[in-house]
Amino acid sequence: MGGACEGTQDSARPSRGSFSSSCSLRCRVAHQPTSSGASCLLTAGRMNQSQETGEGEEQVTGLVCQEEDLRDGQMKEVTVGDQTVLLVRALGQYSAVGSRCSHYNAPLIKGTLVGDRVRCPFHGACFNVRTGDIEEYPGLDSLPSYKVKVEDGKVYVSIDKKFLNQTRRVKEMCSLAPDIKHTILLIGGGPASLVCAETLRQNCYQGRIIIVTKDTLPPFDKPKLSKAMNLDSSSILLRTGDFYQQYGIEVWTHKEVVSVNPADKVVKLSDGILQQYDQLLISTGCRARPLSCPGCGLQGVKLLQNHDDAKEIHNSCLGRKAVVIGASFIGMEVASFLSDKAASVAMVGTSRFPYERSLGPEIGKMTMQMLEEQNVKFHMNDEITEIRGENGKVKEVVLKSGTVLEADVVIAGIGVIPNSDFLAGSEVELDSRKAVIVDKFMRTNVTDVFSAGDVTSFPLAIRGDQRVNVGHWQMSLAQGRVAALNMLKKPTKIESVPFFWTVLLGKSIRYTGYGEGYTEIIFKGKVDERKFLAFYIKDEVVVAAASMMFDPAVARLAELMATGQIFKKAQAQADDLSWLQM
Ligand SMILES: Cc1cc2nc3c(=O)[nH]c(=O)nc-3n(C[C@H](O)[C@H](O)[C@H](O)COP(=O)(O)OP(=O)(O)OC[C@H]3O[C@@H](n4cnc5c(N)ncnc54)[C@H](O)[C@@H]3O)c2cc1C
Ligand code: FES
Repeated sequence: MGGACEGTQDSARPSRGSFSSSCSLRCRVAHQPTSSGASCLLTAGRMNQSQETGEGEEQVTGLVCQEEDLRDGQMKEVTVGDQTVLLVRALGQYSAVGSRCSHYNAPLIKGTLVGDRVRCPFHGACFNVRTGDIEEYPGLDSLPSYKVKVEDGKVYVSIDKKFLNQTRRVKEMCSLAPDIKHTILLIGGGPASLVCAETLRQNCYQGRIIIVTKDTLPPFDKPKLSKAMNLDSSSILLRTGDFYQQYGIEVWTHKEVVSVNPADKVVKLSDGILQQYDQLLISTGCRARPLSCPGCGLQGVKLLQNHDDAKEIHNSCLGRKAVVIGASFIGMEVASFLSDKAASVAMVGTSRFPYERSLGPEIGKMTMQMLEEQNVKFHMNDEITEIRGENGKVKEVVLKSGTVLEADVVIAGIGVIPNSDFLAGSEVELDSRKAVIVDKFMRTNVTDVFSAGDVTSFPLAIRGDQRVNVGHWQMSLAQGRVAALNMLKKPTKIESVPFFWTVLLGKSIRYTGYGEGYTEIIFKGKVDERKFLAFYIKDEVVVAAASMMFDPAVARLAELMATGQIFKKAQAQADDLSWLQM
């Protein structure tokens, strides 16, 4: 295929599908400043915090500890100049990288180290401790890596002065070469498309990349929409306009693909434009399921899908009566965020407790109490039958039980539907839910058509390749990367362990694995005290875990699962949790 040069940056490591650095870019490269390779030895040697010249560049070097201070498998935060650095002794070697996660700046020292990679305690991003390269998402960027020298039993870390305040590192990427006539079209402006585009450029693909999105914004941080609904659009963008320009990535906003013709390799846009492609990514995600009861079309009935929705919901709920339909992840986050802003917040759910099926009744009950303490009124085991209005606007919500709730705004979070309607007639195979069926390489049944993210139904490695459809930010990023590598004929399988999080009143629940069909939950800590770890058991094996204030247990389990380890119910039952660093 055209456009890919012989870069070797992203060849997969079979054990856990991670990727290495050092792209042998035999192409035109738009280099971002990066710190050079990890843990190489310095030739110069001065003690304590000092400045020195190495390879013609000014460096700050610090004596950070004695060699015996760290045992193998340990990490330590040290300071060099004003920079906090994560010093690691792994597999017998010292190395040093940035200390903060490139996603939301979590301190990686509180994460978990397995082999030569550290996993963030917050949302599971992984970084190679030698290169600083990101190996698992969320987060887009890598960490800076620093030079380490061990001499006479002392450990020194050196930082090039020009990188002193750099806390993250964009991987090397090439840009567009106009003479290369090859186009990869990415339908959807979510994280799957963005990472696909970046991975292509990191791997020396110099053809044309077009991201086509219905959204008004280029790729943005969607999970923030329900956690802080009043953010400026500029603060949620994943990349700036300059970034796309620098790397020759076209982002077409306000454009909807209405059909795909794989025989001619053409997509049709809603404005009638036909766009040719050589390879295609379908990463159109899911849309919120709308309400279908009488009155659902009244003014004030809202879904949360994009930045405009978040702003509108926030503004229209200030000092007004909000009713949230659906006591699961989106609904609970929205209710939590609005609890101190709306005049009243009522929550309607069909189960006994929020998240009852996914997280279980104990956690659901506890989260319900958390929100009740903030005056959210729950109407569980009930459902909406009608929305009544006045002058075209929402006035009341009627429930099956007969309860009538006063309402100015109704927000529905009742599930999602894959955005795949435009594939009708394309021969791209869909499952019964209308999710796009892909194999481990993110290939659809149609040649040169790939799919990634929430819209897919894919084989999940940790569940024996059971076909699943999960809506996790991290998994969408991971699939975007895998799709890109396979487009470039670098065979790579999707092997990521699912990881997601949700935030209620400033407290996070972290979750890893795939718990569907679990038959038992084993708890550590106390759910009532909001400090717990829950193991989900199926067929005597731990298939998933959730936690609150119990770091880094969930990150640790995710990392152990990523190495192929299987944990039995007996291990979850045991008092000794040292295998989870607890
Ligand atoms: C409010 C909210 C909060 C969330 N919070 C979390 C969280 O805390 N943790 C977590 O793990 N996950 C969370 N998620 C889920 C997470 O956002 C998704 O898993 C992720 O965004 C999926 O990425 P994607 O690239 O597959 O698709 P999406 O991000 O959904 O992007 C799909 C893109 O395709 C575009 N599109 C659709 N159809 C067409 C078409 N025909 N033509 C052109 N463009 C089209 C859309 O406009 C959109 O740009 C949240 C989701 C929402 C809505
Ligand atoms: S802060 Fe590290 S993964 Fe989110």
